[in-house]
Amino acid sequence: MAFAQRYSAVAIALHWSIAILIVIAFGLGLTVDNFPKEIKGAVINLHSLIGLTVLVLSLARLYWRATHPAPPLPQSMTPIARLAAHAAHIALYLLMIAIPLIGIPTLLYRGRGLDFGLFQIASPFERTPDIYRPLTELHELASFALIGLAAAHVLAALYHHFIGKDDVLTRMLPPRSPS
Ligand code: HEM
Repeated sequence: MAFAQRYSAVAIALHWSIAILIVIAFGLGLTVDNFPKEIKGAVINLHSLIGLTVLVLSLARLYWRATHPAPPLPQSMTPIARLAAHAAHIALYLLMIAIPLIGIPTLLYRGRGLDFGLFQIASPFERTPDIYRPLTELHELASFALIGLAAAHVLAALYHHFIGKDDVLTRMLPPRSPS
C-alpha cells in the first residue's frame, strides 16, 4: 500500500478537536473548586461530558489510525528519535483513553450521576470518599502526565518545523488553498 504524505482530513479534525477538548477538560478539572458552590455541580457535569467526548473521539481516532497508516517519519530522524516519537504517541493514546475511564468511577463514587441534557443517568453508588479520593488523585496524576507529554509533543513538532525544517507539523495542519 502506498503511504500518503499528509494526514487525512478525518485524522486532522480528530487530532485538533481532541487537543482543544483536553485543554478545556484539564482547565475545568483544575479550577472546579474556584466556581461558586451553586454551579459547581454543573461545572463537574460539563467537565465529565467533555471528558467523555475525548474518550469517544480518541477511540474513533485509534480506529482510524489502525485502518489508515500515518505518513512516514522524515528519513533524517535517528532511530532513537523514531523510537521516542512512537513511545510518546502510544503513551498519549493510552492516557487519552485511561483518564476519562478513571474519571467515570471518580464521578459515580461521589454519588453524582451525569446529565446529558435530554436524559440523566443516576449514580448506582453511595458517596464513598475512601474510593473517590484515591481515584481523584490517580485521575489528576494521569492528567498532569498527559499535559506534560502533550507539551513535549508540541515542542517536538515546533523543533521539526523550525529547526529540522521538515513537514511533520504542516502535514497535520489543514491544507492551504492553492494561491
Ligand atoms: C481528557 C479527559 C479528562 C481530563 C484531562 C481530566 C482532568 C481532570 C483534572 C485535572 C481534575 C482535577 C483533579 C484534582 O485537582 O483533584 C479532574 C477532576 C475530576 N474529573 Fe476529570 N478529566 C477528564 C475526564 C473526566 C471524565 C470523563 C469524568 C467523568 C465521567 C471526569 C470526572 C472528574 C471528577 C468527578 C473530578 C473531581 C471534581 C471535583 O473536584 O469535585 N473527568 N479531572
